[in-house]
Amino acid sequence: MNDFSNESNEKIFITGGTQLQGNVRISGAKNAALPLMTLSLILNKGFTLSNMPDLADTRLMSNLLAELGINNSWKFGKVNFHGAPKINEASYELVRQMRASILVLGPLLASKGSARVPLPGGCAIGTRPIDLHVLVMEALGANVYYDSGFIIASVGSEGLKGGLIDFPKVSVGATESAIMTSVLAKGKTTIINAAHEPEIVDLAKCLISAGADINGVGTSTIIINGVNELNPVDHEIVPDRIEAGSFAIASGMTKGNIEITHIRPKDLEFFLKVLNYTGSEIKIDTNSINITSSKRPEPYDIVTQTHPGFPTDLQAQYMALMSIASGSAFIKETIFENRFMHVPELLRMGANISIKNQIASIIGVKELKGSKVMASDLRASMSLILAALAALGTSEIDGIHHLDRGYEKIEDKLSNLGAIIRRSK
Ligand code: EPZ
Repeated sequence: MNDFSNESNEKIFITGGTQLQGNVRISGAKNAALPLMTLSLILNKGFTLSNMPDLADTRLMSNLLAELGINNSWKFGKVNFHGAPKINEASYELVRQMRASILVLGPLLASKGSARVPLPGGCAIGTRPIDLHVLVMEALGANVYYDSGFIIASVGSEGLKGGLIDFPKVSVGATESAIMTSVLAKGKTTIINAAHEPEIVDLAKCLISAGADINGVGTSTIIINGVNELNPVDHEIVPDRIEAGSFAIASGMTKGNIEITHIRPKDLEFFLKVLNYTGSEIKIDTNSINITSSKRPEPYDIVTQTHPGFPTDLQAQYMALMSIASGSAFIKETIFENRFMHVPELLRMGANISIKNQIASIIGVKELKGSKVMASDLRASMSLILAALAALGTSEIDGIHHLDRGYEKIEDKLSNLGAIIRRSK
């Protein structure tokens, strides 16, 4: 995502080589918080979200909703939403900065009967079309067209009608759009080939507590019977499994011993198995995991997949681990066509990686070297942080506005574990 307005010339400096030790508390999930926040457009009788991560992205969504007429006040990780949307047009200035803004389209249409949303901006990790979101609106009876860079959707006086949504491809965002747009539609909606990430289950859980009639979420077929109204609801956002996975890899990078708390280990089941194959010892408790990594990681091939497979949002971080493994490994990226932007930067640090047809071949090196590097997107930035934690000497990481989009208080959390890290201009 090219968020020109948020670029800052801040950098992060890390001197590597410290074994990370101690506890880290995981924040609420960015990828659950963003769709949940858009529910404020249809939950107008009182809506509170707790365990809200304070991130550039959630603050941006908060501004976008405020511009639409939804007052939202933040206090100690809780956000209270008040009011109903006053206008049906989302701001270009805000939407172009964050792709997830497309998620306001469905709830705005359901609430106002029409919606005008700018096309999201470009993205470093892929073309990322929104055709499946449009498919959802049309399947529920809306008329959709594009004009001057906007998607415009509207329904007649009879409103949205339940229908069949048969996705040709699994999409997290489009599944979320389908759920949010059909809960107040007249009649039954059937969603085929739905995604079932934990963040989608969290969204449905919140709507069900507000009185929605949703069945089969967490599977590939979801049935929704529209209701006439939704009730007030307080919802606690699910923990961030991607942040947790990133810290688990930090232990592997530094021969560390980290207790990761306030998580749901089940959401990371496949990933934790892989991390165990690379040689990290993993102790799982109800809401925490302990990762002990006493030796150089071992190589293990992965293919990114939709949930419950290996998450694409941990691919870049896992590549940092494989770059210091005691042998060679392959990583195949199947979700996004351009998600290897971290490779040239890892090469600057002395990694040995080549790419061909969505497959990265990594030959592990004994040591990475601290270097000046540039982050290109959110998860690439975390991959460089992880590499710098293991590298000899000091690294200077630029482009960290990407990091602030998805990691809350990252320097504090890492320095509490013993990392030598600082942020400055
Ligand atoms: C969500 O993006 C996450 N973002 C992404 O996390 C994550 O990488 C992705 O799901 C996959 O898990 C949020 O939840 C805010 P998709 P989303 O629709 O919904 C194609 C991070 O690092 N597609 O499942 O945009 C698309 O191009 C971010 O936190 C269409 O072709 O992902 C991609 O190749 C990055 N048409 C594939 O489907 C559409 O209309 C999966 O995308 C929509 C998607």
